[in-house]
Amino acid sequence: MPEIPTSFDLGDLRLGVATAAVQIEGGDRANSWYDWSMIPGRIKDGSTPLRSTGHWERWREDTALMSQLGLETYRMGIEWSRVEPRPGELDREALARYREELEAVRAAGIEPMVTLHHFSHPSWFEAMGAWEHDRAVDTWLRFVRVVVAELHDVVTDWCTINEPNVYAVGGYLFGNFPPGRTNAWLALRKVLRHMAIGHCRAYHLIHEIAPQARVGFAHHVRPFAPFASGNPVHRAMARVNAHLFQDVLTDAMLGGCFGIELGGQPDDVTPGAHHDYVGINYYTRSAVTGISDNRFEDVPVNDLDWEIYPQGLLEVVAPIVQRYPGPIWVTENGTCDNDDAFRARYLHEHLATMVTSGLPFERYYHWCFVDNWEWDVGEAPRFGLVHLDWESGDRTVKESGRFYAQIIANRGVTEEMHARHVAPQAYRTA
Ligand code: BGC
Repeated sequence: MPEIPTSFDLGDLRLGVATAAVQIEGGDRANSWYDWSMIPGRIKDGSTPLRSTGHWERWREDTALMSQLGLETYRMGIEWSRVEPRPGELDREALARYREELEAVRAAGIEPMVTLHHFSHPSWFEAMGAWEHDRAVDTWLRFVRVVVAELHDVVTDWCTINEPNVYAVGGYLFGNFPPGRTNAWLALRKVLRHMAIGHCRAYHLIHEIAPQARVGFAHHVRPFAPFASGNPVHRAMARVNAHLFQDVLTDAMLGGCFGIELGGQPDDVTPGAHHDYVGINYYTRSAVTGISDNRFEDVPVNDLDWEIYPQGLLEVVAPIVQRYPGPIWVTENGTCDNDDAFRARYLHEHLATMVTSGLPFERYYHWCFVDNWEWDVGEAPRFGLVHLDWESGDRTVKESGRFYAQIIANRGVTEEMHARHVAPQAYRTA
């Protein structure tokens, strides 16, 4: 592994944070994840997204805090169930509330980016079969049209869909996401196909309404390495996983090219560029034995036991940008560190790896801002640069948050900053 420099310059890389609506807002009962959380046993700690960070009410305070930290850009979600709580019925107040927030973000000198689907959607969409349904794409595009028409004067950067692969595998293969099906391979394929078509058509739709828009999607990618490098089954399965979990979507969603794995080329998508940036969510690496999610032993890990492996970002991104030129926007990267004991080191290592890579990284969105509601694992895992007191809702900037602010202010990390924030920290090995 190449040595990670202690000091570095950010160059032109712009830094911000990423969040998702249901994970932070609280108060919304009209979405699929609220319904899911009401089924006993589905969420590890029994929590629901009703509380979350309370951002729906506290957004002014959060925007002020972002500005205080000097953030340059902010990726946030617009929750479909708030805008269209019943089919075809728009909630103008919800749209106005999002506009107010976006204007405030802009006024604070922070470039907003809006995600149009991040794991959750209205309960009525779930009830009709969600992305598996043949009318799913048109139904979602109706919402996309409304939001973009309404907000394109305050938003230039759009992320159509967050991690279709994680969404679909959770919902139709492993069953830990709604609708909780397992090994439903045909449904899984349909869901992925529809999400990919949805992205491609949204790409054109958004540009029709707002020609200056920058549109992409957040692709969850990770290296898949054979658990035992000499084992031919592990080696073959590593390739199969990488291909099915990410490569087929890379080609469909960035390049509009649908392989047979996704059911072949759709009539309404023409091959060609369907992105203005390559959006990458990067967290960890998988050690493969079959179709399952394992990791190597004796490696640095976070508090969810995910391997920490900065180099893996380059391993997955380099081949993508050879075929689909950047710019690369890291739409998510972050770690579960409940005591903020190693987040500064994690930040340093990932940023240093990016800026010294020679690859066209242009944006970096740290996941996440304030500790938030982590889907099926609930309230316990802490990913934030800002600590959340779950009872009072109080926010306190963590040491890693101060370090991040300093990196932005200094446009990089100095030896002195490294000695103070990074050198004292170490990862746990497992
Ligand atoms: C998702 C986020 C999630 C994060 C950490 C990503 O896969 O996009 O919503 O909170 O991982 O678990």
